Amino acid sequence: MSPSKNLFQNPVRLLAPMEGLTDPLMRQILTQIASDLGRPYDWSVSEFIRITQHVLPAHVFYKYVPELHHDAKTASGTPIHVQILGSDAQLMAENATYACELGAPAIDINFGCPAKTVNSHRGGSVLLDEPETMYQIISAVRKAVPAHIPVSAKIRLGYTDTSRMDDIRGAIAASGADWLTIHARTKTQGYKPPAYWDKIQSFNALDIPVIANGEIWSAAQANDCMMQAGTSHLMLGRGAVTRPDLVAQVDNHTENHDDSGKNTATLLWQDLIAHQIKFLEGEAKNDVVLVGRYKQWLGMLTKGYAEAQTVWESIKREKNKAVIINALQASVQQ
Ligand SMILES: Cc1cc2nc3c(=O)[nH]c(=O)nc-3n(C[C@H](O)[C@H](O)[C@H](O)COP(=O)(O)O)c2cc1C
Repeated sequence: MSPSKNLFQNPVRLLAPMEGLTDPLMRQILTQIASDLGRPYDWSVSEFIRITQHVLPAHVFYKYVPELHHDAKTASGTPIHVQILGSDAQLMAENATYACELGAPAIDINFGCPAKTVNSHRGGSVLLDEPETMYQIISAVRKAVPAHIPVSAKIRLGYTDTSRMDDIRGAIAASGADWLTIHARTKTQGYKPPAYWDKIQSFNALDIPVIANGEIWSAAQANDCMMQAGTSHLMLGRGAVTRPDLVAQVDNHTENHDDSGKNTATLLWQDLIAHQIKFLEGEAKNDVVLVGRYKQWLGMLTKGYAEAQTVWESIKREKNKAVIINALQASVQQ
């Protein structure tokens, strides 16, 4: 591919990679909801796969991205890109090549992870302080993978501060990356509001599409973000887990209203129940893990749905999946 600002014909809407949150099961559910609401995600990105010493065996790629068994798409047809994280350019290139052989439709490279263990091994956001290494990694991966397969990077605004932004932009420009996703905070700013959407502006000088990310919880914030960042491309993170209809709300045009005026881009609590039950019936190591993960989701849903609070109160100490499913069903009969 040769870099082009106009690579995407329309504004793209992406579901963010979130380790331990948008795992394959959650991706399955959230991409299904988005499709059902008439605004499928253009794609999602896998949780990061850490590259340290060798080319990982196929089973590791399949574990993180089981969608590779199905044309790299979720059941609702949303493509899943493979994200890798590491600092050894050659090794990253070899692993990216292998991921493509296994069917990855695109490779994304993580330069945003703030985790101590990852950063201490020179991976993730710490590399924002090493733009030259970023360049080496992206360009090695770009050269290694087949030309028709896109290679992208996901960054923050910097490690401790934004002082290296110009160097980072230069590294991206020279690297041959096909697009860039920016989480509009530094590593030090973590996940706390606000996100500095306006800081994304200067990256629009690049000859590639720029995707804005960070702190989008509502359609109004999505609009503010697009205005301030100067790009129409968005990646949704925690907001998309809290309100699974956020992606449809963002593009909520008049055609989303049916004859009675009902907003068809809205997913009501009662319509979310079946999806939550599907989650609870999904694949996991065991029920303890699954129930724990479900509670994590329900906790986030309490910020998006008043009804979730009642369910939360009734099941927060519950370990039995069947009892939780009953409580969910009861929450719509009240
Ligand atoms: C629990 C969690 C795990 C994350 N894991 C990843 C990851 O594996 N790869 C990545 O590029 N970003 C990861 N992120 C960052 C998100 O993709 C996103 O950039 C960030 O959450 C900001 O968007 P938001 O404010 O809309 O949530 C993670 C974020 C969270 C909260």
